[in-house]
Amino acid sequence: MKKWMQFLVLISSITSTSALLASGGIDGGGGNTMTSVTNAKWKAECSSCHMLYQPGLLPERSWNKMMSGLDKHFGENASLDAATRDEITHFLVTNSAEKSTNRRSNRINQSIPANATPLRISETRYFMSKHDEVSPSTFQRKSIGSAANCIACHKSAEKGDFSESQIRIPR
Ligand code: HEC
Ligand code: HEC
Repeated sequence: MKKWMQFLVLISSITSTSALLASGGIDGGGGNTMTSVTNAKWKAECSSCHMLYQPGLLPERSWNKMMSGLDKHFGENASLDAATRDEITHFLVTNSAEKSTNRRSNRINQSIPANATPLRISETRYFMSKHDEVSPSTFQRKSIGSAANCIACHKSAEKGDFSESQIRIPR
C-alpha cells in the first residue's frame, strides 16, 4: 500500500471508532452504558426544568402514566399540545427500560414490582441500592438539590452513561 493510502485507511478507522463511541454503540448493547437515543421534541420540551432523562431509565407503564398527567407533573404544569405529547410518548415507550438490551435498564426494570408504576427513577429499588452510600444530606446540597438531579454527579447522565469514571460529587 502506498503511504498516502495507509494514511487514509488509518483516518477512516479512527473516525468510525469515535462515531461508534459517541453513539454509545460499543457499550450500548449488553454493556453498562445505556443506548443513548434522542428525539428533537423530547430534547426541546423535557429539558427546560431539569436534565434529560433517557427513556431506558423507566419502564413503558411509567412513561405512559407520566405523559398522561403532564398538567400535574411533580407540582408543575408541563402540558403539551396533543401531537407533541404523542410523539414524545412514542419515543419514550419505544425505548423504555424493558425494551432495552442494556444491563442497567434491565436491572432498573427488574427492581420494580409488577404492581408498581413509579414516576421517579430515584424511587426505584435499583436506584436506592446503588446510592445507599450517598447520604440524604449530600443529595440536599445546594450544588445538587435532589436525587433527581443525576447530572450534578454523573457528568454524562444525559447520554445514559453512569459509569464510575464519570462520577464527581460536587461540594
Ligand atoms: C415545567 C417544568 C418541567 C417540565 C417542562 C418537565 N418537567 Fe419533569 N420534573 C419537573 C420537576 C419539578 C420534577 C421534580 C424534580 C425533583 O424532585 O428535583 C420533575 C421530575 C421528573 C422526573 C423524575 C426524576 C426522578 O427520578 O426523581 C422525570 C422522569 C421527568 N420529570 C420527566 C419529564 C419529561 C419526560 C418531560 C417532558 C415531557 C418533563 N419531565 C418536563 C418539572 C418539569
Ligand atoms: C449526589 C450525587 C449523585 C446523584 C445526584 C446521583 N448519583 Fe448515581 N451514583 C452516585 C454515586 C456516588 C454512585 C456509586 C458509585 C459506586 O458504587 O462506586 C452512583 C451510582 C449510580 C449507578 C451505578 C453505577 C455503577 O457503575 O454501578 C447508576 C446507574 C446511577 N448512579 C444512576 C443515577 C441516576 C439515574 C440518577 C438520577 C435519577 C443518579 N444516579 C443521581 C452519585 C449520584
